[in-house]
Amino acid sequence: MEKFRIFGDHRLTGTVRVSGAKNAALPCLAASLLTREPVRLSGLPRVRDILTMEKVLRALGEHCAHKNGTTTVVMGQATNTHAPYELVRTMRASVLVLGPLLAARRQARVALPGGCAIGARPIDFHLAALARLGAHIRLEHGDVVAEAPRGLFGAEITFPRVTVTGTENLLMAATLARGRTVLKGCAREPEVVDLATMLSRMGARISGAGTEVIEVEGVDQLAGCAHTVIPDRIEAGTYLMAALMVGNGVRIEGCLPQHLAAVLEVLEAAGAQVTAEPEALVVPPQETGLRGFALATREYPGFPTDLQAQAMALATQAEGLSEIVENIFENRFQHVLELKRLGADIAVAGHKAVVRGPCKLQGTTVMASDLRASAALVLAGLVAEGETVVDRIYHLDRGYEAMEVKLSSLGARIERFNPGPFL
Ligand code: EPU
Repeated sequence: MEKFRIFGDHRLTGTVRVSGAKNAALPCLAASLLTREPVRLSGLPRVRDILTMEKVLRALGEHCAHKNGTTTVVMGQATNTHAPYELVRTMRASVLVLGPLLAARRQARVALPGGCAIGARPIDFHLAALARLGAHIRLEHGDVVAEAPRGLFGAEITFPRVTVTGTENLLMAATLARGRTVLKGCAREPEVVDLATMLSRMGARISGAGTEVIEVEGVDQLAGCAHTVIPDRIEAGTYLMAALMVGNGVRIEGCLPQHLAAVLEVLEAAGAQVTAEPEALVVPPQETGLRGFALATREYPGFPTDLQAQAMALATQAEGLSEIVENIFENRFQHVLELKRLGADIAVAGHKAVVRGPCKLQGTTVMASDLRASAALVLAGLVAEGETVVDRIYHLDRGYEAMEVKLSSLGARIERFNPGPFL
């Protein structure tokens, strides 16, 4: 199993370029199922989850080809409607094919995703909402079987709680439903807006994306399109925190700082000096250390849960107490015990963690439990004294493109190694 070896306490300087957003690329790939024509997507990050989504699309009869940084997806001769468990279990976001399959092929069989490292993460809101559009849904041998032999019909739907992929699934399904669909309580994440932009390019009639209420006027068919996905705000935020922990002048390029407003607000209140340019974040050498800070994760435009673990790594280096509250997932503190192995002073009570800093971290072997927890451990390794080994970095490879290459280019000492089966 591959690991990272990090020799800590090397200052980072220079420019790092942000890749396309994984969580925008995944629904955009799934949306290709809505048309028979080619869909050309640019800016997809080269990460494991994207390869998995392409495998799911191939299993459904799509052809995916790569050329000059553009991925073209087009419907093959023999189509299928079954997304098997072998693929879904490796990536929950496979469930994003449910809405488009049902809308375009009138049936879908998608393995029900199981539990996950950050919480139970059911898909009950997706299913209840699709049923409101007229789908008949049942569970059969671990698969969700959804059918709409006469097609889907527009309806008014209120999500009981904000769900990102739930909003995306329904948005895709509604584009081909007969009549008007009104989705209330929608996720406002930039990734939802990006999907809506792509669907509109395909001929969908959508208004309100980026607000709590999205209206979709169904159309008979959608065309192919060319679309470039937005930059990854979570990757940008991760490098932003690295720059604040061990930076000596870092420029994060190719990102959209307005997508990180809540993060910048927390960091600036903690004393961070960061300049936001239209498509870059500039972190000069910090004159003083950060003060402890408070944050609570919320749906967009709030502080993203996907940056909570990395912020906790940063908090270990801030002066005084930091308070971190996780409101989105019930089990997203798995990095705490690993950060403590590196010497962090963190106390957890329910959904709240209190971090006392600054702490001199010391390198050791730590285990990644999920994608963002892995990133937090890498950040901690960058400041820790001596050598830190981060095990199970396959989690990291799901969502960060060439992280060790990008960090090395900034001057970090980090390498990937595979010690073989016995170490
Ligand atoms: N929820 C339900 N029932 C549902 C759907 C959601 O109870 O049917 C609950 C979840 O268990 C959770 C909350 O609602 O407690 C919000 O979950 P949401 O559905 O918004 O999460 P998601 O769509 O499964 C996406 C991202 C996650 C990110 C969350 C929250 C993708 C592919 N995934 O997940 O990204 O953490 O939104 O912003 O977009 C990551 O990239 O590391 C990652 C986990």
